[in-house]
Amino acid sequence: TKIAVFASGSGSNFQAIQEAIERGELHAKVALVVTDKPGAFVVTRAENFGIPVLALNPKEFVSKSAYETAIIEALHECDVKWIVLAGYMRLISDVLLAAFPQRIVNIHPSLLPAFPGKDAIGQAINHGVKITGVTVHFVDEGMDTGPIIAQAAVPVIEGNREATEAEIHKQEHLLYTKALQQLLQ
Ligand code: GRF
Repeated sequence: TKIAVFASGSGSNFQAIQEAIERGELHAKVALVVTDKPGAFVVTRAENFGIPVLALNPKEFVSKSAYETAIIEALHECDVKWIVLAGYMRLISDVLLAAFPQRIVNIHPSLLPAFPGKDAIGQAINHGVKITGVTVHFVDEGMDTGPIIAQAAVPVIEGNREATEAEIHKQEHLLYTKALQQLLQ
């Protein structure tokens, strides 16, 4: 199954997915990495794996629809069936949702519906929760609101944000590849 990974930042989830594919644990092929941030580290990671990158600056399009339409054309050219959001910092509009109905998923570093949006890990720590986690969900028009596919709990390590973050990212990488394998098969 051909998938596209959308990312705006570091791309550690992209890398975990690609490594799971190479280990034979996820039966998929990343046909394209899509980014709205041409300078993001995910671009370097994709190049290291020899995976093509579509880097489009949304500001260079007259509208969000025009931007997403350009992406859709590239996805169809690559025969992409699923869109995997991994740190893609933009809402998906009805144009892209209509082109890939029930075929767009996202990962979020909290136990949704708690702490949607930016800096979910910081939000959870500041709120004082003792358990947080990660969520894989279908994407809809909202911010981190679609139907939940899989979750994993992660305890907050008090007074050690770095350690909590590291464990959340580790669980993201495990949960995303596992959930994708179940979805795609
Ligand atoms: C992850 O925490 C993901 O859950 C969130 O953005 C972060 C992306 O990290 N949506 P990376 O770019 O995959 O390293």
